[in-house]
Amino acid sequence: MSILITGGAGFIGSHTAVEFLEAGYDIVVVDNYYNSSPKALERIKEITGKSFRFYEVDLCDKAALEKVFVENPDIDSAIHFAGLKAVGESVQKPGMYYYNNLVSTLNLVELLSKYNAKRIVFSSSATVYGMPKTVPIREDFPLSTTNPYGETKLMIERILKDVWVSDHEWSVSVLRYFNPIGAHKSGLIGENPKGIPNNLLPYVAKVAAGQLPCLSVFGNDYDTKDGTGVRDYIHVVDLARAHLKALERAEKVSGVEYFNVGTGTGYSVLEIIKAYEKATGLTVNYKIVDRRPGDIATCYADPKKAYEVLGWRAENGIDDMCADLANWMKKNPNGYEGE
Ligand code: UFG
Repeated sequence: MSILITGGAGFIGSHTAVEFLEAGYDIVVVDNYYNSSPKALERIKEITGKSFRFYEVDLCDKAALEKVFVENPDIDSAIHFAGLKAVGESVQKPGMYYYNNLVSTLNLVELLSKYNAKRIVFSSSATVYGMPKTVPIREDFPLSTTNPYGETKLMIERILKDVWVSDHEWSVSVLRYFNPIGAHKSGLIGENPKGIPNNLLPYVAKVAAGQLPCLSVFGNDYDTKDGTGVRDYIHVVDLARAHLKALERAEKVSGVEYFNVGTGTGYSVLEIIKAYEKATGLTVNYKIVDRRPGDIATCYADPKKAYEVLGWRAENGIDDMCADLANWMKKNPNGYEGE
């Protein structure tokens, strides 16, 4: 039996591929390299010493995706990462986001059903909680979104639920990620944003490395400990391991389950800057600028359910997250393209 990993060359997908290979699973990776690099696949092999099947396929191309199922009849589950993920871009290009994220998922679900592999772990996001009234955020909080990217995550959650309602043989595990950062301890795989990063940690790392002049801190007048935004940063390897636990559970029970994947601890932007400086001995130049439209003040998980049901909890603290990111940056100053 083998696991289909969509988007397996991407940031979270590549770390998850490593964890699954190390746990002894056979995997089939599909990726269209839209926001990822073939180098990541070589690095996965280097870390694990294992090989795996790979297809350069866009999930929106149903015929190409079906070929993957036909050629790999042992696929019995999918971990679905593939998708567009930039919040700002989704506001500029909503059609592209709705088309890509929804059509790809609909094709995948149809083929999983047709080839009797009715088990899926889906990459959702804490963005589905919209502007939560209180923190920590529990899975039963009201759902809403503030941008097309978030809307696609919520729509896919609803699609997967309806799929289960129509056919109780399905096992659906929805993982709602908080803010994944860090990199594999080896420094061989990590986050490789194209162009100027949107997210805080890749930006901080590039400023510290002297590749960008200055970090803009988006607002210091929020109702938080120091006025800057508070988030629940989680080490990408911890996040990857949550997928293993989710799949193990989905192998045992059918149904639809939702899990927050966070640490339960919130750090402010200024705390992150300090933590990165401490972990690396480097300096992060920053200036305070206006708030970024759409940002919320505070977002962190109540991760209890994932612990109680899956037996998963985050093991790495913020110092490990910063040190591992810095190690990846040091070894790959220009990401995978630097080679
Ligand atoms: N921030 C800055 N300067 C920057 C970038 C970010 O001050 O250059 C601040 C933001 O204002 C926020 C915090 O750093 O307070 C984290 O911002 P990120 O962009 O790294 O992450 P977000 O929490 O905004 O968004 C992330 C993912 C989304 C996902 C969301 C779920 O990028 O895909 O978490 O909560 F939807």
